Amino acid sequence: MLTTIRPRSEGDLWLAQAGGISPALLFNPNRVRETWRALQRALPQVTLYYAVKSNPYHSLLATLVDEGAAFDVASAPEIQALLPFGVPTNRMIHTHPIKTEHDLATSVQLGVTSFVVDNLDELWKVAPYRHDITIMLRLAFVAPDAPIDLSRKFGAQPEDALHIMSVAKQMGITVDGLCFHVGSQAQSAETHRIALLKCIEIARDAKNQGIADIERIDIGGGFPANYSNRPVDFDTFCAPIREAIAEVPDHIRLMAEPGRAISAPSMTLVSRVIGRSKRQDDTWWYYLDDGVYGAQSGRIFDHINYPMTVFTEGGELTPAVFAGPTCDSVDRFGDQESLPELSLGDVIVIHEIGAYSIATACHFNGVAPPVIIDLEDTSEVQRRQA
Ligand SMILES: Cc1ncc(COP(=O)(O)O)c(C=O)c1O
Repeated sequence: MLTTIRPRSEGDLWLAQAGGISPALLFNPNRVRETWRALQRALPQVTLYYAVKSNPYHSLLATLVDEGAAFDVASAPEIQALLPFGVPTNRMIHTHPIKTEHDLATSVQLGVTSFVVDNLDELWKVAPYRHDITIMLRLAFVAPDAPIDLSRKFGAQPEDALHIMSVAKQMGITVDGLCFHVGSQAQSAETHRIALLKCIEIARDAKNQGIADIERIDIGGGFPANYSNRPVDFDTFCAPIREAIAEVPDHIRLMAEPGRAISAPSMTLVSRVIGRSKRQDDTWWYYLDDGVYGAQSGRIFDHINYPMTVFTEGGELTPAVFAGPTCDSVDRFGDQESLPELSLGDVIVIHEIGAYSIATACHFNGVAPPVIIDLEDTSEVQRRQA
């Protein structure tokens, strides 16, 4: 748990940025631009498709549209969220391996032509659209160091790839891509490297056996956010991927679907202590106006310990626990061995909380999720001044 203690007066500055509103998520478009550009610099040969699911906030999407981004969507409503920004559907890929027939039909009708399959039944679903769409086959590779493992839920086993592609061929379905997702918040890109090399091998075998012409490989997401106060150096992180890219044949295009790495730094939560009580073992319980049903579900779903700053004047050090505003016992987090005593109204700021946060927030107990406040976009300011 990364907790920094700062003077109460500094907390008031955060609250002022939030217009006095708590809980509030401060959206910083400059962080989005910085991270997007850093990842793009680290992987210059790769087209980045932002994973909308990680945070579909409209100003974030608008910022990425302005950066010329492409987008990874998981459903027709995510496509519809992008259309008002004028994103052409050929800059979107639908990557959900398991789709409802209705979602598939709507997504095709909206104009998306790239879909993902990871099993034979899904081939039957996409078959009616085979003249209008092409398919990427998703394969399962697990990163042992990624806390969020997606390889059990999705992905065909690499040894089954040729069989699935040959069935697709018999059905007249074009499989022109391979993709994978090594798991979110990977600690190294070693599995990306291994998976990419394996995909190159499968693409070569598919070509040699006349099963499929693989023209694109999508290395998925998994790029990490900084939850440890150590800024992520994407250039270093991506070095193993670049090593494998050197082996990719010229005719194969490369794609990636970063979500968390881009959206996490874009939002900071400003919250306040709305109640407190000293309970068993002399432990102070501090109740905040946001919790795991608000912006902080990642604490439960993704086991994230967000860096936080507590603003107080200091005082007696005691064990402490933070809790959210709902009546559910699961709505607690951030046990502290020793924290200066907090008062009602004290400000708590939680950093790097833009990914899988507001996207999953709900109104449990009638408590509204935090409001979002847009900070100034310096690129926009520079454009206006030019
Ligand atoms: C298909 C797909 N692509 C991309 C992502 C984004 O992954 P990350 O946030 O780890 O970058 C996810 C996350 O669940 C996903 O399921």
